[in-house]
Amino acid sequence: MKIPAISIDEIEGLVEPDRVHKRLYTDSDIFELEMDRVFSKAWIFVCHESQIPEPGDFCSAQVARQSVLVVRHTDDSIKALYNRCPHKGTQLTTAASGHVRVFRCMYHAWSFDTDGSLKARPLADGYDGSRLETDNEDCNLRRIACVESYRGFVFVRIHTEGPELSTWLGKARTSIDNMVDRSPREYLR
Ligand code: FES
Repeated sequence: MKIPAISIDEIEGLVEPDRVHKRLYTDSDIFELEMDRVFSKAWIFVCHESQIPEPGDFCSAQVARQSVLVVRHTDDSIKALYNRCPHKGTQLTTAASGHVRVFRCMYHAWSFDTDGSLKARPLADGYDGSRLETDNEDCNLRRIACVESYRGFVFVRIHTEGPELSTWLGKARTSIDNMVDRSPREYLR
């Protein structure tokens, strides 16, 4: 991503003790910096585990302007996948949530397992000799490396480097603990 040409000094100049400049809310360069420096590097809450209890259940979310699928895989683990077909970039689903056996792209009908791995391509021999062979990792749905759950609350982080979720949550964990511990439901207590 192109990093906008706006300096930290310039941004700091927009904040005064008793007011902030409206440009902080409207400037597209500052927005891009926020996406790159804040929202891509932070753990972002995407769903609660109770929303995806069964293998194949999924929710979609926007994280730093990326469309993301959070899905319960067949081994009960939770995967986070970019909602983008690796073939030509088509969005796989526009649904906010649902249940699938596989994710099937509506364009050329490639289908993907709930861990993102490519399962099938119609007319597969048409791809012979191309880079689009099933053993090419790039033909799988791209995974978001960082997905963790705390007391059933699922978070993802786009950047691979950074603190673990529990460290990042810090004292905010006590608020989640308090809320979950007082819940009349038994889920993940
Ligand atoms: S764009 Fe998805 S299968 Fe071709």
